[in-house]
Amino acid sequence: MTEPRKILVTSALPYANGSIHLGHMVEYIQTDIWVRFQKMRGNQAIYVCADDAHGSAIMLRAEKEGITSEQLIDNVRAEHTTDFADFLVDFDNYHSTHSEENRALSSSIYTKLRDAGHIATRPVTQYFDPDKQMFLADRFIKGTCPKCAAEDQYGDNCESCGATYSPTELKNPKSAISGATPVLKESLHYFFKLPNFEAMLKEWTRSGALQESVANKIAEWLDAGLQEWDISRDAPYFGFEIPDAPGKYFYVWLDAPIGYMASFKNLCARRPELDFDAFWNKDSKAELYHFIGKDIVNFHALFWPAMLEGAGYRKPTALNVHGYLTVNGQKMSKSRGTFIKARTYLDHLQPEYLRYYYASKLSRSVDDLDLNLEDFVQKVNSDLVGKVVNIASRCAGFIHKGNAGKLVAANAAPELFAEFAAAAPSITDAYENRDFARAMREIMALADRANAWIADKAPWALAKQEGKQDEVQAVCAAGVNLFRQLVIFLKPVLPQLAAAAEAFLNVAPLTWDDHKVLLADHQLNPFNPLMTRIEPAKIEAMVAASKEDLAAANAPKGNGELEKDPLAAEIAFDAFAAVDLRIALIEKCEFVEGADKLLRLTLDIGDAKRNVFSGIKSAYPDPAQLEGRLTLYVANLAARKMKFGVSEGMVLAAGPGGEEIYLLSPDSGAKPGQRVK
Ligand code: MSP
Ligand code: ZN
Repeated sequence: MTEPRKILVTSALPYANGSIHLGHMVEYIQTDIWVRFQKMRGNQAIYVCADDAHGSAIMLRAEKEGITSEQLIDNVRAEHTTDFADFLVDFDNYHSTHSEENRALSSSIYTKLRDAGHIATRPVTQYFDPDKQMFLADRFIKGTCPKCAAEDQYGDNCESCGATYSPTELKNPKSAISGATPVLKESLHYFFKLPNFEAMLKEWTRSGALQESVANKIAEWLDAGLQEWDISRDAPYFGFEIPDAPGKYFYVWLDAPIGYMASFKNLCARRPELDFDAFWNKDSKAELYHFIGKDIVNFHALFWPAMLEGAGYRKPTALNVHGYLTVNGQKMSKSRGTFIKARTYLDHLQPEYLRYYYASKLSRSVDDLDLNLEDFVQKVNSDLVGKVVNIASRCAGFIHKGNAGKLVAANAAPELFAEFAAAAPSITDAYENRDFARAMREIMALADRANAWIADKAPWALAKQEGKQDEVQAVCAAGVNLFRQLVIFLKPVLPQLAAAAEAFLNVAPLTWDDHKVLLADHQLNPFNPLMTRIEPAKIEAMVAASKEDLAAANAPKGNGELEKDPLAAEIAFDAFAAVDLRIALIEKCEFVEGADKLLRLTLDIGDAKRNVFSGIKSAYPDPAQLEGRLTLYVANLAARKMKFGVSEGMVLAAGPGGEEIYLLSPDSGAKPGQRVK
């Protein structure tokens, strides 16, 4: 027996000023699966997290809601913890960065850094809101872009031309909080001397602690030279006051990662077997992993290890970085209803569907991963319901009917059982290395083998034959055992399904090594359906609810600058993507009696026919010449009632008018009904 590993695991601390959405869930599900796997293996894995509760955004939002910052973060924390629990994310502790443990640790780490000569101070001149009496972070300043003159741009970059600049370059600057014209004001700031750690960081970032592509990105920053990091903010600020600097507060990103330690410290007080120092001391033998998204790599791969080193603590064993979630191939979008909150999902669908789908997509890569809603339904229904659960439901009935629920000792598939057990090391390795996609593929390949074997033995046919009852029982006992092995392999991903299976199997909570042991001569409990199929209507309802959720938040913003554009007002990509453009075949084309300009087109759009009136007669005096031609068609334009009938959509043409109207056509090969992208 090898010694159980001591493993401390964290997910990034979500901001306490907004709801959890399905993008966040990628990370919490990924981390939870990995931790559950470690626990099943018998390791001491501890999973801690917390709300990231500090910063001016939180302070300002509380003010807007007319509550204190403390009330806001309490409310949000309650919401976050129920969302996570309902997604079966099983933290050992969920704390807050606004906690006594974090205050004490932040102060002591800062003091150690200062005493070791890693803190500098110098004055900084910054915009100050004279009405609000506060310094303004870049995103709280708006003005006219110094490069392209677009109005209403943020203090650090222009969304119109992409320029980056400093807020003092912005023309006509305004405070986004009060509207007042900000004034320049000087104040003393505290800096963490990151360059002191350059050599250590160069080594640590190449020590195997980072995925290769992440290490390469960091190397670029390291080569560009490290800057001192501004870690102070002036009052008013919601955070911790710097011990030796009244009126100055730690910047939120200083105390946020310390929140990992604080959450663990808080847990240690409740779990005496845990020793804080054994996990955080410089010579700690424990492993420490941070799961994070690719957007916060700099904080975790540069500032955080340097802070730990400077204050005399151990550094992380590794950062596990994941990419961003897209939905249906695109950035989550409020207008399309694909910006889906965790709660909205849970109102319509089971958590394990998403856990499985994410697992089937997650690997060590930092590439973005896509939640394709059609594929989601198809995959979950076919893999989990069609393959895994199906094995148990096919066999359980015969055991209950034919043998009073008693699993016989005979095993009709010893080779298959051995084959499943022999697959375990590879599946173990895939989980350990966070290649959940490979683990799921290998498990589903086994499920296919089990189903094919049962189909071949056909216990339902045997059951009808005289003298075959023993064989039926032996086949079904084998089927249940194969099912049990699959459940063990899937348990980190599907803890609820595993619990229901354990109840049916009448066994203690399954551990990883249980896959080696055959269940024989054993009384089962009645079988209840373990998982039902996803109904596509539920997806539609969820998407519709996500649109409603955000209808108010999504009111269009005016942009005076763009109206002067000689082309056309700019629209968001979402607005364009909302147009359902299709290839259509003009089946019939005819004059419309009493109309000078119109032709009536009968379009074949693949699975349906459409009637469209189009004002193109002046260019196509012979309607028959258009018959058999392909064109482009706006399929989701609201139908319009005209004098001559209802026009269902529109075909696309270019040109000034009259004889110069040119109907658009796709290249040959396009088929009616195909979507234009
Ligand atoms: N508060 C900081 C983290 C501090 S850690 C000391 C933060 N919070 S966050 O709420 O914005 O994000 C929390 C985590 O969720 C981050 O790791 C982030 O990368 C991840 N994600 C947020 N949106 C995401 C997607 N759309 N897709 C995948 N992960 C996403 O950053
Ligand atoms: Zn610009």
